[in-house]
Amino acid sequence: MQETILTTRRLAKTYVADGVQTHVLGSVDLELYRGDFTAIMGPLGSGKSTLLYCLSGMDAPTSGQVVFEGENIAQFNESRLSELRAQSFGFVFQAANLVSNLTLYENVAVPGYLKRGRSVGETRRVVEVWNICI
Ligand SMILES: Nc1ncnc2c1ncn2[C@@H]1O[C@H](COP(=O)(O)OP(=O)(O)OP(=O)(O)O)[C@@H](O)[C@H]1O
Ligand SMILES: [Mg+2]
Repeated sequence: MQETILTTRRLAKTYVADGVQTHVLGSVDLELYRGDFTAIMGPLGSGKSTLLYCLSGMDAPTSGQVVFEGENIAQFNESRLSELRAQSFGFVFQAANLVSNLTLYENVAVPGYLKRGRSVGETRRVVEVWNICI
């Protein structure tokens, strides 16, 4: 039997900017299973990134639920959300989203260092093994 890993119930997201409301997600019911590969497709500006931000706890939905491994992540405090993002989600952003005052090496190393609790030396070796350090 497939194991559910992530579920949304009536997930909705409305952005408000300069007094203008943009209703992006209406009422999304989604079920994702462990080990599955799922693609979210839709036209330009249809809300794919918005959905991924809500699923991963990077942004909060306006209403509805995101349940990850049986827990409603809306009830997580910032520290739990940070842990969730560091331990359970890998995210390749559409834009670069690099931290501007860090070097390329540091941008790559810092998440791995935080996630695995590796020492600086171990982190350096891992980054270099992946040949990312220039
Ligand atoms: N922070 C924001 N404030 C206001 N409106 C926003 C914000 N982020 C996105 N939007 C609007 O929400 C809608 C959905 O944006 P989103 O980036 O989720 O779409 P997308 O499907 O990922 O688009 P693309 O195909 O370009 O990647 C768009 O109309 C966008 O302009
Ligand atoms: Mg997008």
